[in-house]
Amino acid sequence: MSILGKDLFDVDVLTADDVMSIFQMAKEFKESGFAKKWTSLKGKTICTLFFESSTRTRISFEIAARRLGSDVVNFTASTSALNKGESFKDTVKTLDAMGIDLYVIRHSEPGSPMMLKKYTQSLVINAGDGIRGHPTQAILDAYTMWEKFGKLEGLKVTIVGDIFHSRVARSNVKLLTSMGADVILTGPATLIPLNVENYGVKVSYDVKKAVSNSDIVMGLRMQLERQNSTFFSSLDEYNEFYGITPEIMKYAKPNSIFMHPGPMNRGVEVIESVSDSDSSFVEEQVKNGVFVRMALLNQMLGGVVE
Ligand code: CP
Repeated sequence: MSILGKDLFDVDVLTADDVMSIFQMAKEFKESGFAKKWTSLKGKTICTLFFESSTRTRISFEIAARRLGSDVVNFTASTSALNKGESFKDTVKTLDAMGIDLYVIRHSEPGSPMMLKKYTQSLVINAGDGIRGHPTQAILDAYTMWEKFGKLEGLKVTIVGDIFHSRVARSNVKLLTSMGADVILTGPATLIPLNVENYGVKVSYDVKKAVSNSDIVMGLRMQLERQNSTFFSSLDEYNEFYGITPEIMKYAKPNSIFMHPGPMNRGVEVIESVSDSDSSFVEEQVKNGVFVRMALLNQMLGGVVE
């Protein structure tokens, strides 16, 4: 099996072999350094379609595509003909007519990558659809863990915070459990989906117990823009009970690491003495995002690396 010619709507399209193949290729790209340019995707055109804000994902896809020799075009909804009444369907047909090989889409509506696929034969990567999924973030997170610990099986990963509104948490739960990691979710009860244990994770509402003996503690952003009611009293209260501090990190294993998909709200879900410490892998995650996305694009589009 391989991901050649497949869409990436979420991580469940990947087999364990696919994941390891992406990791191996990302590792080789990383060992070659940032300066090395490749030509494996010369002649391809990748279009980023971002209907929601992004810093890391959009830019790292663009860097990854260019480093493989692909052309990249960025579609900006706010300055497009969508504002003149053009439909999404006609927008996609118009872009297709200009020879797009692969779309990278982010949208606030869950299922938007599948909607895009209804109108195109080109490949589609989901770069975040509402609260549903963010597969490339999960793959780069898992890669970062694998690189640090040399394995995923048996790692204890505690994810802290607004699980309910987090597409990163959903994709991470699917990928990490499928690769044999033990995942524990913690946060205010109002922000943990009901019956989430059915997905093979444990839940604890006591952050100290949840973090105990963890290899990885992952903070999540409090996603206020997706919260349409009051899930907790105040950000200060959230920080007091669930903010990740050096005291909380002491419950984790001595060589544990802190991770966060970003963007971070410093002083809310984590304090600086953790996010800026030597055990913080936040910037390594961003760096790895480029190499993991290079591997994905290359394998999906059948690039030959020489
Ligand atoms: N992690 C993540 O998706 O970040 P951006 O919103 O900056 O792309």
